[in-house]
Amino acid sequence: MRSFIKRILPLIATALFLAAPMQGAQAHEGASGIVKERMDKFSQARGQMRALRGALQAGDLASVGTITADMLPWAKEMADAFPEGSDKAPSEALPAIWTDPDGFAAAIAAYDEALTALNKAALAGDANAASNGFRSLGASCSNCHRSYRK
Ligand code: HEC
Repeated sequence: MRSFIKRILPLIATALFLAAPMQGAQAHEGASGIVKERMDKFSQARGQMRALRGALQAGDLASVGTITADMLPWAKEMADAFPEGSDKAPSEALPAIWTDPDGFAAAIAAYDEALTALNKAALAGDANAASNGFRSLGASCSNCHRSYRK
């Protein structure tokens, strides 16, 4: 019995691993217009955060500079990507985005500031500031999600 479990566990782990990206794709299913656009942008941001982590670990500040520069336009566009009433399924946007517009704007500003600081640190070749900036950037993602995403 134990050896059966030992054999089956890696298979389960693999199956879960393979299923994970499919769940992501399903989340976008049925999404259209601005909701799909912003979901795509956020998915892209998740990939860019992974790329940033890798670049920082490799001490490749040039890439950190390029990736953060690529991310900046979305920080500026984000506010316009949430028109009132665009919280219908499959969107995970919370009504607080519209009932607390100042708080949401502040969360976007925090993201923009963290991203800009990380970009500057990378361009200045300051590895310490870049690693702190990356942490602040990650915190700005989760802080916003905590209040404004299901
Ligand atoms: C100012 C708020 C805010 C910030 C900052 C923010 N997000 Fe989000 N994020 C949201 C909201 C709201 C949604 C839900 C959008 C929807 O489903 O309509 C979301 C959705 C997502 C999703 C799911 C997309 C999908 O496929 O459904 C991912 C992944 C994500 N964000 C990653 C990030 C990452 C990584 C960062 C930081 C680099 C970030 N977000 C910064 C508010 C934010």
